[in-house]
Amino acid sequence: MKRYLDCNATCPPVQQALEASARAAVEAVGNPSSLHWAGRAARRIIDDARDTLAAYVGCESGSVVFTSGGTEANNIAIHSVLSGVESGRVICTAIEHPAVLQPLQRASEHGFEIVSVRPDAHGVVSAEAMIDAITDDTRMVCMMLVNNESGAIQPVQQVADYCRDRGVPILVDAVQGLGKLSLDFKSVNVDFMSLSAHKIGGPKGVGALLVKRGVKLQELSPGGGQERKRRSGTENVPGIAGFSAALGQIDFSQFAPVRDAFEQQLADKIPEVSIVSKDATRTANTSLFMLPGMDGETLLMQLDLAGFAVASGSACSSGKREASHVLLAMGLNDTAARSSVRVSFGPGNSMDDAEALVNALVTVRQRLRAMAGIR
Ligand SMILES: Cc1ncc(COP(=O)(O)O)c(C=O)c1O
Repeated sequence: MKRYLDCNATCPPVQQALEASARAAVEAVGNPSSLHWAGRAARRIIDDARDTLAAYVGCESGSVVFTSGGTEANNIAIHSVLSGVESGRVICTAIEHPAVLQPLQRASEHGFEIVSVRPDAHGVVSAEAMIDAITDDTRMVCMMLVNNESGAIQPVQQVADYCRDRGVPILVDAVQGLGKLSLDFKSVNVDFMSLSAHKIGGPKGVGALLVKRGVKLQELSPGGGQERKRRSGTENVPGIAGFSAALGQIDFSQFAPVRDAFEQQLADKIPEVSIVSKDATRTANTSLFMLPGMDGETLLMQLDLAGFAVASGSACSSGKREASHVLLAMGLNDTAARSSVRVSFGPGNSMDDAEALVNALVTVRQRLRAMAGIR
C-alpha cells in the first residue's frame, strides 16, 4: 500500500484545481496578451484568479504578480531590491529555504554582506536578534513565515513593523504559511511576500509575489512586459486558474490530531526519538524528528520500500548529501542533523497512516540496528 506523507514538499492536487486548470487549458486557447476574443477570454481567467487570490490573502489585486512559483517570487524580490543599490547588508534567518539562501549567496559574491541570524533550540529566530542585526547600511531583510522542515512559525510581524519604521525593505517567504495560517498582506505590511500553489493542492510551477503598493519592481527576466511590466513571459493560464481554485480547499488544521497521535505513538514506541520544534508554535501538519544513531536518508529509503513517501532533512545536491542546514543552525551536530525525518500530513491521511508509519519505523529501525550488530 502506498502512503503519501510529504505534503510540505508538494501537496497532491485538489479536484477543484485540476478541473479549473483543465477548463482553462481547453477553453482559454488565446494568448492573454492578444486583443481578440480568445485573448480576452484567457485574460479574464487571470483577472478573476488575481481577484480571488487578492481577496484570500488580504491585498489589492494590483499587488499580485503571478510567477512560476515560490523560488521565482523570492528571486524577483531579492533581485529587485539589490539591483538598485551599490552594496551593504542583507539580513536573513539561517533557516531560510534555498530559494532565498541561494540568491543571497549570489549577492554575497557581488559584494553584499549577508548576515544570517540563527534560531534558538526550538527552531525559532528571535525578532530581537533580527532587529539587532539591522544597521544603517542594511538594504533588505528576508524572513520566512513558516519553516518548511520543522513547521516552526517565525515572529515576522515584529520584524516587519521595525523594518517599516526604518524604511528597510522586507521579503517574507510565506510559501509554507499559505493555507496553514491566515494571511493578511495589508496588515502584515511588508514589501514582498512569496507564495506557491503546489503547497496547497494547486498546480506545480505557479505562484505569486505580492508587492506592496508603491514598491517598484525591477524585472528579473525582461521581455514582453506582462504582469504590468513586473514579470515578463506569457502567463501560465491553466496554472493560475488552478492556483486560485485551490485556495482554501484544504484545512490543514484538521491534521493536528493525526500529527499529534503520530508523535505520541512514536515517542511511546521509540523513547529516544526527539521531536524538533515540539515546544514552538508549529503548523498543524508537520512533524520533524530525529532518531539517534540512524541515518535519515537510509530511513527514508527503507520507508520508501515499504510504500511510505516521507522526507529526510538532509539535502542532496550534486550527489553530495548535506545535513539539514536548519538543524545545524539550531546547534545540532552533523550526525544528529543527518538523523532527521520529516513527515508532513495532508489530504487523504488518517490515523491509520500515522499508526502504520510508526510501526514501519519501529520495524525498519530494528532491522537497521540488527544489521549494525546492535541489539
Ligand atoms: C519555504 C519555501 N520557500 C520556497 C519554496 C519554493 O517554492 P517553489 O517550489 O514553488 O519554487 C519552498 C518549496 O519547498 C518552500 O518550502
